[in-house]
Amino acid sequence: MKFFVDSADVAAIAELNDLGMVDGVTTNPSIILKSGRDIMEVTKEICSIVSGPVSAEVVSLTADEMIAEGRKLAEIAPNITVKVPLTWDGLKACKVLSGEGKMVNVTLCFSVNQALVAAKAGATFISPFIGRLDDINLDGLELISDIRDVYDNYGFETQILAASIRTANHVAQCALIGADVMTAPPAVIKGLASHVLTDKGLDQFVKDWAKTGQKIL
Ligand code: E4P
Repeated sequence: MKFFVDSADVAAIAELNDLGMVDGVTTNPSIILKSGRDIMEVTKEICSIVSGPVSAEVVSLTADEMIAEGRKLAEIAPNITVKVPLTWDGLKACKVLSGEGKMVNVTLCFSVNQALVAAKAGATFISPFIGRLDDINLDGLELISDIRDVYDNYGFETQILAASIRTANHVAQCALIGADVMTAPPAVIKGLASHVLTDKGLDQFVKDWAKTGQKIL
């Protein structure tokens, strides 16, 4: 499963990238707001660090405007993925932009049917939002599993990009289901290395080592 970082925090992206943890990046208007930076500038900087797909989201609501914005965003770097919302106009923009050879990430997906129409419109990635479904007491992971089944049933090549990931369990379950990609904030990715028994075991080793009075270096 590929790891994308759901952030525009350049320092955090660079740190994870140095460890080989970054196959791509996703941003959205809320993430750009949080960064406090200009979308074109920060996206360009991210693309200079990360060679994989970097999603930059359009902000208009009509297909023609989304297409124009998508073309402008795609000029930032060859690895830009244009992110469009899962609306009828977004699907029109997806069809045109993917027809031009651009990678397109269709975002804000909350149902199997939405994933189906996005695949038929030529989406490179479909972004089902796990956490936001969980927030309203629905099962976000079940949606990932259902889309996996449907795409496999018909051989769709659109990659499932599990989004709105909030926990390490979301990541593990997405990997077990067979999501192609997961995108998560830096803190969630760093948290994947943690386990309470690792902490407990290491604490004991440190104490016992001190009792030996030995040194390695
Ligand atoms: C994905 O591309 C989205 O940017 C993101 O995963 C949304 O996550 P949130 O629901 O935690 O805001």
